[in-house]
Amino acid sequence: MRRDVPPPDGPGTPPRLSVVGTGYLGTTYAACYAELGHRVTGLDTDPVKIAALAAGEVPFHEPGLAELVRRGLDAGRLSFTTDPAHAAAGAEAHLICVGTPQRADGTGADLGQVAAAVRALAPHLHGRTLVVGKSTVPVGTAEWVERLLRKHAPDDADPEVAWCPEFLQEGRAVEDVLRPDRIVVGARGSWARETLARVHRGVYRLAAHEGRDVPTVETDFATAELVKSAANAFLATKISFINAMAELCEATGADVAGLAEALGHDDRIGPRFLRAGVGFGGGCLPKDIRALQARAHQLGAGAAVRFLHEVDLINQRRRERVLQLAGELLDCVAGPNGPELSGTRIAVLGAAFKPDSDDVRDAPALAVARLLHGAGARVRVYDPLGRDNARRTHPELGYADGLEQACTGADLVCVLTEWQEFRDADPAALARVVNGRIVIDGRNCLDRYAWNAAGWTYRGLGWKEAA
Ligand code: UDX
Repeated sequence: MRRDVPPPDGPGTPPRLSVVGTGYLGTTYAACYAELGHRVTGLDTDPVKIAALAAGEVPFHEPGLAELVRRGLDAGRLSFTTDPAHAAAGAEAHLICVGTPQRADGTGADLGQVAAAVRALAPHLHGRTLVVGKSTVPVGTAEWVERLLRKHAPDDADPEVAWCPEFLQEGRAVEDVLRPDRIVVGARGSWARETLARVHRGVYRLAAHEGRDVPTVETDFATAELVKSAANAFLATKISFINAMAELCEATGADVAGLAEALGHDDRIGPRFLRAGVGFGGGCLPKDIRALQARAHQLGAGAAVRFLHEVDLINQRRRERVLQLAGELLDCVAGPNGPELSGTRIAVLGAAFKPDSDDVRDAPALAVARLLHGAGARVRVYDPLGRDNARRTHPELGYADGLEQACTGADLVCVLTEWQEFRDADPAALARVVNGRIVIDGRNCLDRYAWNAAGWTYRGLGWKEAA
């Protein structure tokens, strides 16, 4: 769904940009800002990725992005390189868009890519330039980047730092960059703020053209850094809250879907992010709530976010609940380690962490598939887009190339990512190919009456009994 972006106008040309890191975040920013009229060079250390992008191929699934990349390349406004000198040349602002994954040795954020990006860029900076952090980082990173720049930039350089967190969601990343619901600017001085206003001018113009406003919050480094972590912590808490209520519903016989609907009508609460199920995953929420706890602990404020540990535990428990339910429904012997599922065949529908994505990072569906496999079941996974990534990261699991193939001969079907294809599946047709008509709806996305009518034993998460 693309609406027209007005051509750049007004005095001066939009600032030339470099975008450091061409993963999910960086590629989307580079392509969108080229669309808004900037000249943009994307920089990455991975020559394979850069070659693909330079040929107009986006190596991950994101609706509308490949089209924008190709248009930027064709217009001559967008280019990609592995050479930091080339990326830096002539750019007024440099957007740091590298990953900040969870550390291999702990729960904090690994800032290795941020340090490498700054060290690579700094020697090529001259005169006054702005280095803008967009990656999700622990509080204190912007000041540290300032110190790194001072150490590695040449004498004639006068770099300033600003932090402008992004809030894009996979599956709607292009929209979120072109039409953000807010812009947060963490900067020290007026020059940085004015430069950022010019960087964001295309976004403001597009909003004005469409009769919208883009609220802008100007603040200090620490607040800008913390906003992103706080937003993700809030979203994760909201999901775990409804999943905790789902546990209560299972214990009391209440129905979590009705409960969530009733809660959502209170506009102080709102209906979004109240979908109970197998919980949150992906490249952001899980690692961001852990990084926030780790940083808060370092700063002596760990008690303030101790509840996030509980948020994480509730989320993990939902995954184990599916294993437990599978054992109950398949009438398997359970011990202290949970059910023993050898001799059973289970179809897992879903691998991506959410529908319309091929991203399998910390995906609840795959975590459950591994638990089922670990308990001895023969698991066959099917996911419309995430299949290849899942095969690469979890080669121990079985895979199917289609929904029906995954279900054929299965004693139990688990729906763990709410793809439209699964919602639309015909329960009567699937009933003919399975060995046992038992379905666990881990996303509460199926029409349980239709599945019951087709002879299935249906179990959602957040109901005590089959309806
Ligand atoms: C998230 C934030 O939404 C975004 O603002 C931030 O910039 C990056 O992290 P994303 O990781 O793309 O975005 O996924 P999101 O749509 O937020 O979903 C996260 C997870 O929560 C998914 O696994 C999803 O299935 C789950 N979820 C979401 C629920 O279980 N219930 C809900 O009600 C909503």
